[in-house]
Amino acid sequence: MAQSVDRMGQKELEIVRRAYAKHVLANADVDDADVEAAFAAVRREDFLGSGPWPMMRWNGSYRTTPSDDPVYLYQDVLFGIIPERGLNNGQPWLHAMLIAAAAPRPGEHVVHIGAGVGYYTAILAHMVGESGQLTAIEFDGGLAERLAANFAGQPNVRALQGDGAQIAFDPADVIYVNAGATRPADMWLDQLNDGGRLILPLTSDKGFGENPENIPIQRRGAVFRIERCGDEFLAKWISAVAIFPCEGARDTESERALAAAFAKGGWDRVTRLCRRGDVPEEQCWLKAADWCLAYA
Ligand SMILES: C[S@@+](CC[C@H](N)C(=O)[O-])C[C@H]1O[C@@H](n2cnc3c(N)ncnc32)[C@H](O)[C@@H]1O
Repeated sequence: MAQSVDRMGQKELEIVRRAYAKHVLANADVDDADVEAAFAAVRREDFLGSGPWPMMRWNGSYRTTPSDDPVYLYQDVLFGIIPERGLNNGQPWLHAMLIAAAAPRPGEHVVHIGAGVGYYTAILAHMVGESGQLTAIEFDGGLAERLAANFAGQPNVRALQGDGAQIAFDPADVIYVNAGATRPADMWLDQLNDGGRLILPLTSDKGFGENPENIPIQRRGAVFRIERCGDEFLAKWISAVAIFPCEGARDTESERALAAAFAKGGWDRVTRLCRRGDVPEEQCWLKAADWCLAYA
């Protein structure tokens, strides 16, 4: 692999990073100065290991970047972190949109589940600042080691290996889930502070990998923003999604309810999440035995 003879210097990269942040926010259709500043500040190359890097192409295959010049990382594209498992550093515009919806504020505690090697953890950490706290949880042992190494010496970021649906964490203002569940883990709802926001990707069993039946993405995966108001959980659909499955937060009964809900449509009319199974069927988009996503 030819190495670039004129690798970009740090000053040039700072400018590139600022341009990247603007492009990412424009692609996300988001106008949020705090999110833009975080994308402009965090160095993607500090998290993805040494290059060249596997860059995802439009057809889902990977192309290796022409060299290890970090300038190639400042595109609104996915990069493989374990490409043979289809496990990627996610799409910047999607994260910009989801992080804007989560709206982390200085001093808050954010829990990041499915943190990978921590690029988006660092963006969240930038937004909560030194007075805030990050708990980053990654299931895969090898990635969790890299995650911990990437935040060594940063006292307000705690990196943990394990199942983010089970590992105990302190009450949180934002819970940012980056893997496809079939239901919200009880702990995510229990540990959300009043006014806290949970970003919850829900996927059917068709929500990741091959899609031979060409099912539209809207009917395979959905991200909901859940906001706690006292004992109530307000819910709003924010995006379609195809995403790596969340170990520990998938079960057959909820998957069936989710697949049925995707088939009938109407996700955009959801207004609340209830932790009970007795809400009448006609008021629900998704109805499982002990929880539902309801319209009113
Ligand atoms: C789509 S990848 C995203 C990685 C990272 N957020 C990024 O964009 O670079 C999903 C990640 O979630 C992790 N994961 C899956 N289930 C998990 C769980 N129950 N707890 C913590 N991490 C989980 C996977 O190992 C994988 O690294």
